[in-house]
Amino acid sequence: MQTAAFPPQRFSRPAQFLHWAIFLLVALAYLAIEVRGPKGSASRIFWSATHYWAGISVLALSVIRLCWRFYQPPPAPEPDTAILLFLAKVTHLMLYIFIIAQPILGILTINFGGHPVTLAGLGSFTIVSPNHDLRDTVKWLHETLGNAFYFVIGLHALAALWHHFVKRDNTLRRML
Ligand code: HEM
Ligand code: HEM
Repeated sequence: MQTAAFPPQRFSRPAQFLHWAIFLLVALAYLAIEVRGPKGSASRIFWSATHYWAGISVLALSVIRLCWRFYQPPPAPEPDTAILLFLAKVTHLMLYIFIIAQPILGILTINFGGHPVTLAGLGSFTIVSPNHDLRDTVKWLHETLGNAFYFVIGLHALAALWHHFVKRDNTLRRML
């Protein structure tokens, strides 16, 4: 049992910063794709560029976040039933896979389609040569994962709020 003599363990400041920065960037990537507007419009050009910038920043910060996690492992989870601890672990693993794989699939969608990825203000890059069959597959994966993770992220956020407001433990506080 935790007492005042044993203050609650928290995520480190860098881990907290990276968690919330990645959350905001993922939200921006989703917002950008939802509001981008019709093909050929100025709005679509602006919001597509925002989508690419936000998504690639997610990838860069996620690599740093994983390196940081190996260097500074997270605190042990708050006590819970074995099944809920297991579900939390699986969800966290899925979220880590998502924030690494989703931006890479986005980059591959553009490159396999025969275009370089342009990061406005920085330049363009290509990591694979065109391949139209693979383009269809990675585009489908990017869209399907993108749509599925609205629910996974929603579930994860609801779980955090449930811990805070219903179970009243430290799960959310130690990420703040
Ligand atoms: C965490 C980061 C990202 C998330 C959450 C995300 C999510 C999404 C979602 C939800 C869609 C719309 C799917 C649909 O129409 O049903 C989409 C489309 C797209 N994304 Fe991403 N994406 C991310 C990163 C990236 C990156 C880094 C790139 C490329 C640099 C990229 C390129 C694209 C492209 C080209 C499309 C449009 C496909 C089309 O309609 O032709 N995405 N993304
Ligand atoms: C794009 C959105 C999000 C992603 C990708 C994400 C990802 C993650 C991951 C991977 C972890 C595990 C950390 C670790 O053990 O290293 C985590 C923990 C956590 N997240 Fe999120 N998260 C997101 C949004 C949110 C939101 C909106 C909330 C709150 C409403 C939240 C609250 C928390 C809390 C409280 C923890 C700590 C859980 C624990 O102590 O076991 N997250 N998140």
